[in-house]
Amino acid sequence: MKTILITGVAGLIGSEVAAYFDQLGWQVAGVDNNQRAVFFGPAGDTTWNLERLQNSLQHFSHYPLDIRDRAGVADLLQNLRPDAIVHAAAQPSHDKAADIPFDDFDTNATGTLNLLQAARQFAPEAPFIFLSTNKVYGDGPNHIALKELETRWDYNDAAYAGGISETFSIDQCTHSLFGASKVAADIMVQEYGRYFNMPTVCLRGGCLTGPQHSGVQLHGFLNYLVKCHASGTPYTIFGYKGKQVRDNIHSYDVARFIHAFIEQPRAAAVYNLGGGKTNAISILETFLLLEEITGKPMNYGYSDEARKGDHICYYSDLSLIQSHYPDWSVTRSVRDIIAELAGVRE
Ligand SMILES: NC(=O)c1ccc[n+]([C@@H]2O[C@H](COP(=O)([O-])OP(=O)(O)OC[C@H]3O[C@@H](n4cnc5c(N)ncnc54)[C@H](O)[C@@H]3O)[C@@H](O)[C@H]2O)c1
Repeated sequence: MKTILITGVAGLIGSEVAAYFDQLGWQVAGVDNNQRAVFFGPAGDTTWNLERLQNSLQHFSHYPLDIRDRAGVADLLQNLRPDAIVHAAAQPSHDKAADIPFDDFDTNATGTLNLLQAARQFAPEAPFIFLSTNKVYGDGPNHIALKELETRWDYNDAAYAGGISETFSIDQCTHSLFGASKVAADIMVQEYGRYFNMPTVCLRGGCLTGPQHSGVQLHGFLNYLVKCHASGTPYTIFGYKGKQVRDNIHSYDVARFIHAFIEQPRAAAVYNLGGGKTNAISILETFLLLEEITGKPMNYGYSDEARKGDHICYYSDLSLIQSHYPDWSVTRSVRDIIAELAGVRE
């Protein structure tokens, strides 16, 4: 039986990937120390999701290890010698990082290095899939000419009609400390691929979403927004008139891509992975769609102050990933995703 090691297994992506590979008959070794509860308080607690995995998966083992524990990570890799590694543990919030710079960097950058080096020693052939982020491009996309439409911003430059590609510069822009720690990890993952010829990939995520997210105001935009809608809690829009655009991808489609990569790995690959242009939606449009699906009004407020370095309009150009993996595509539309989060069957 093949073994997959998944860090951040109680989080959104980790838990989806765990369920996916468990169904395929793999042994799933999941690392998570519930650090999300430390970062975000009780609303970020992932215990419920870990218990769900423990109760529903067939071949699942949990390791409450902290990825910052270098010796512990090396021991685990030496014992498991996994066939594939999915690294999804992180301090994932753009805004939170400024309050906890050391925790952020130690988790995102050093934790990733701990895993890479252990993989190099004990599982150099195993595809190493790193969940990077579109924040590696910092606020660079905000400097593209934009046009303001009735309910959203969009690019006003034909070069970006299909979205942001992997050749977009990561330099000379504001990343947030989170974006900077993820850049460090992203470059290191590429380097282990290039320098040691390991089968690594950086997946620069747009908005990844799904029902198993422990969504909080500072992370998990769509999940948190739908939770606010369900409970009637006012949702605060930060700047850009609520017309800021995100491309949403269901965690299931992320897991499907990870499977495709494991079947046909490459060395030092980098892909933008989001919902792409067809799954791009603004906050105002999300409210409208949600109201249409549930028939219930959205309660929200507005703050003029945009989040520092936040994207005004971002959607991923999926042409590279689709040219390398033509059998993979986004299968869940943004409407399907929102209906599922709202618990509505359409
Ligand atoms: N969700 C998104 O919209 C999005 C967008 C772009 C990139 N990403 C990236 O995808 C990855 C997964 O994101 P997610 O939304 O599933 O996050 P998540 O917070 O839901 O899951 C991450 C998990 O990692 C665990 N964790 C954190 N620090 C740890 C540590 N030191 N040791 C062990 N476990 C630890 C947390 O407890 C949590 O369960 C992250 O790297 C994130 O930066 C996410």
